[in-house]
Amino acid sequence: MPIQSGRLRTGVLISGSGTNLQALLDACGAPDFPAEIGLVISNRADAGGLERARRAGVASIIIPHKDYPSRESFDAEIDRALREAGVEFVCLAGFMRLLTPGFVEQWRDRLVNVHPSLLPAFKGMDAVEQALNAGVTRTGCTVHFVRPEMDAGPIILQAEVPIQPGDTPERLHDRIRSAEHRCYPEALRLIASGRVKVAEEAVTILSI
Ligand code: GAR
Repeated sequence: MPIQSGRLRTGVLISGSGTNLQALLDACGAPDFPAEIGLVISNRADAGGLERARRAGVASIIIPHKDYPSRESFDAEIDRALREAGVEFVCLAGFMRLLTPGFVEQWRDRLVNVHPSLLPAFKGMDAVEQALNAGVTRTGCTVHFVRPEMDAGPIILQAEVPIQPGDTPERLHDRIRSAEHRCYPEALRLIASGRVKVAEEAVTILSI
């Protein structure tokens, strides 16, 4: 991903507490970090992440999906807002809406997501519960480029999280979130430094 002008201008889409947004805001606070956050968009007015954006002095807007008659019109408004803010790259950070194939193709290889499992295992909304119910001994998180299919696309970084005896979904998700908070800024740093290449649906990370 070439940097067009200085730091890679990034938009972040959220629906909830925004701890991953916070990790990205913190990383972007370092003067030598190669990306900056230009806009935060939430589809929910009560998303805690909006306050995080405000505290960081980053522009944020609410685009309530319920106000739009179709997924296409909702996604078109997100696309318009991102472009108006000069956004070049998009991070989904707990954004709980499935984006339309048209939007995903518009932002192909400029759109990434963080998911709380080691993809391709445990796709979907309840990935943490799925891992617990499956009886696996380890799960984790994945940062990947987004494709139209849910929780699919070339994998950039993953981190493993062991499952401990007596884990609840909440306890396990807390430890997965900690792993996400390390992986997501690192993935953005690699991308914004031009070190991530996608070819034939596989990622190569170039060494410096
Ligand atoms: C994160 O664990 C993220 O992986 C997950 O939602 C959480 C958001 O937390 N995303 C998905 O499940 C998407 N399929 P946050 O709002 O504190 O960043």
